[in-house]
Amino acid sequence: MAEEIIIVQGNNTLSGEVAVSGAKNSALKLIAAAILGQGASSIHNVPLISDIEVMSEVLRRLGATVTRDGHTLTVDTSAVNNHETPYELVSKMRASISVLGPLVGRFGCARVAMPGGCQIGARKIDMHLVGLEALGVEFVIDHGFLEATTPNGLRGTHVVLDFPSVGATENLLMASVVADGRTIIENAACEPEIVDLVNMLVAMGAKVTGAGTSIIEVEGVSLDALHPCEHTTVGDRIEAGTFLAGGALTGGPVTVRGIDPSYLRVALMKLQAMGCEIECGKDWITVRRSGKLVPIDIQTLPHPGFPTDLQAQFMLLAACAEGMSVITENVFENRFMFASELMRMGADITIEDHHALVRGVERLQGADVSSTDLRAGAAIVLAGIVAEGETRVHTIGHIDRGYEDYVGKLVSLGADVVRTQINDTTTL
Ligand code: UD1
Repeated sequence: MAEEIIIVQGNNTLSGEVAVSGAKNSALKLIAAAILGQGASSIHNVPLISDIEVMSEVLRRLGATVTRDGHTLTVDTSAVNNHETPYELVSKMRASISVLGPLVGRFGCARVAMPGGCQIGARKIDMHLVGLEALGVEFVIDHGFLEATTPNGLRGTHVVLDFPSVGATENLLMASVVADGRTIIENAACEPEIVDLVNMLVAMGAKVTGAGTSIIEVEGVSLDALHPCEHTTVGDRIEAGTFLAGGALTGGPVTVRGIDPSYLRVALMKLQAMGCEIECGKDWITVRRSGKLVPIDIQTLPHPGFPTDLQAQFMLLAACAEGMSVITENVFENRFMFASELMRMGADITIEDHHALVRGVERLQGADVSSTDLRAGAAIVLAGIVAEGETRVHTIGHIDRGYEDYVGKLVSLGADVVRTQINDTTTL
């Protein structure tokens, strides 16, 4: 059987400009939110990635019509008549569970397969359930499915999340917009993708304030007060951060366009602390570096802290810096799989619990490596660009989940990177 891999020629640099796609983590939830509009919503700037295809399939299984015209997705949910999301789709993509909130909001019931753990940790959904229960949702677990009902309707409530979970905040938002009365979500996630979702819900007729802060207030409206809308997805800060890491790694200059620099404040501060020069405009950022990469200490935290989704890309920078860096992962319990792949390329990394001690090396070496998850996959391709010799990246389906035309964009920045089919007798 043939396998598609990415082959990267090393000793290279990146320079030029790249346009950032719409944010994967926003667009997925915007598609789910369209359920509440009971008609045809148009979502612009939707990235061409496989996770969006999975989410579109989730909506189609519910009875929606989803059509694409370039980067615009039209999601018509007027004929939705099924409330079940099967394991086959949830196991492909955990974010499928974000239909739970809008389904109970619109129909008062939902049947969604329970997500299992995943490579980056157990990823529980207890906060989603506790919050929705406070709104009046009752759950039973039936043969691997979560069955949600609302025997007494949805009523406004005051929820304090244990942790500012992105997914729990979103599910709670999408159910509470049609609850009876006021809901307060305290310790809410503050990510730009939450603000984007709230902007779309407000365009649909919902009443929400405080998005982007840790206290969100929702004044419930009747379901009939919600209508379809047109909305443009925000730029993907993680894609932007990935290309900026590429610029920092090779010297650049690399400019990313279509991104609000305020979404990346801490990451940009860390790039400066590592010896990079940063220039920003309203919707663009340029990185360049002429001196050596300086080692750094990084802790991942909920927004506005340093994003866990850029941890692998910055571990790569640390692996090429002059000295010892410490990277602490606080959001997911098992997100250092990338380190072992990078070590195959000659990096010097010691993992101690949720800390990675990274001693910079003079040069990485090309090797056969795996893309262990979406962000690690993007980072390992960048590693190949500065390594000595050729790097062959396997299991690249992870990269396709979240990066639109990653290879094409890298080539436009001067990388020597190709996708190719190989015979699996030559794989790892
Ligand atoms: C989202 C993003 C993901 C990003 C993450 C953190 C999407 C599709 N994915 O994931 O790219 O890395 O935010 O910024 O938007 N937790 C619980 N119980 C819960 C919910 C979460 O224990 O009910 C834990 C998780 O296991 C994890 C942490 O809280 O350790 C953060 O999870 P959360 O913020 O919910 O991330 P996701 O929404 O899954």
